Amino acid sequence: MKVNLRKIIGTLGSHCSLQVLKGAKDEGFKTLLISEKKRYHVYNRFSFIDHVILVDKFRDILEAGIQNRLNDLNCILIPHGTLISSLSSDEIESIDVPVFGNKFILRWEANRSLKQKLMIESKLQIPRTIKSKGEINDLCIVKLHGAAGGKGYFLASDKKGFEEGYNKLLNDNVITDEKQLYIQEYVKGVPVFLHFFYSPISGDIEFMGVDRRYESDIDGISRIPSKHQLDVQIEPTYNVIGNIPLVLRESLLDDVYQMGENFVQASERLVPPGIPGPFCLEGVYTKDAKFISFEFSARIVAGTNLYISGSQYSNFLFENGMSMGRRIALEIKNAINKRKLDTILT
Ligand SMILES: Nc1ncnc2c1ncn2[C@@H]1O[C@H](COP(=O)(O)OP(=O)(O)O)[C@@H](O)[C@H]1O
Ligand SMILES: [Mg+2]
Repeated sequence: MKVNLRKIIGTLGSHCSLQVLKGAKDEGFKTLLISEKKRYHVYNRFSFIDHVILVDKFRDILEAGIQNRLNDLNCILIPHGTLISSLSSDEIESIDVPVFGNKFILRWEANRSLKQKLMIESKLQIPRTIKSKGEINDLCIVKLHGAAGGKGYFLASDKKGFEEGYNKLLNDNVITDEKQLYIQEYVKGVPVFLHFFYSPISGDIEFMGVDRRYESDIDGISRIPSKHQLDVQIEPTYNVIGNIPLVLRESLLDDVYQMGENFVQASERLVPPGIPGPFCLEGVYTKDAKFISFEFSARIVAGTNLYISGSQYSNFLFENGMSMGRRIALEIKNAINKRKLDTILT
């Protein structure tokens, strides 16, 4: 059957937009990029981008004029990390253009207590929350509510260390109150990011790849010999600079699929229609190979940019180099084919 591909696949020009639009093109769709003017000179280099809407800033997507243009072009919007960091949850939900996946679950990613609720419902093991600075008796990570990229986070091993970190943030005018901080057990092990795709069209959960992040300056600290580390007093930050590919021990896959399935089922119970499309479980594997999850992303993550021509895992499932971006387009194509587009859009 000939598929009607009059739909256009569009996204914001950042994060994983090249992957998403290249994948859409490879599946036969026309593509659209919403680009900030200042960055257009980068995107102008790529021939797989058919339409461009230039904006001063990504928030302009809230304007009715822009949304009308997207709807006139029959655009399906693919959400990613930049949409989440540019707009509030209310604003994302207000977008009157079909969004791929469940736009309502993005609120559960952005809000720390909702996030925790969904992770517990998914039976994921999560780091212990420390209720007050007086209860700190082992290494902890102190986070800001709603921070992005681990900025402002600090480590503390006791009450004194907490107060030092807190006073520094206070002096730097980053926070005004201790209540803005959230203390969590520091999980010792190696951080890993698990990329999944759930297809309500086929009913399958696909484990698509795994990466680790290359974060500055935490990943640079090990390059400084310890006697100099003590001199420079670095408070590590977790600003993502890029991603590094990884494969897991094959014996871990059993748990990986189980966690993915539990997450899909919990999402369907708590946030209908659940989680059609990509998501990522993010955590630390401890020395006993237990996965302790510190957060999830309820949409495509930029770590998937590693696997434009398929990953070690997606190559077991698909013939022709299936990136996550291309998988999204394939899902849209299959849904159009089966007249089930409603089940994958909100
Ligand atoms: N409980 C934890 N134990 C150990 N490392 C952690 C923990 N929580 C976060 N991290 C590290 O800090 C980084 C940023 O934390 P995260 O919660 O993902 O913040 P953000 O919401 O800013 O992305 C993670 O990528 C991970 O390396
Ligand atoms: Mg994170």
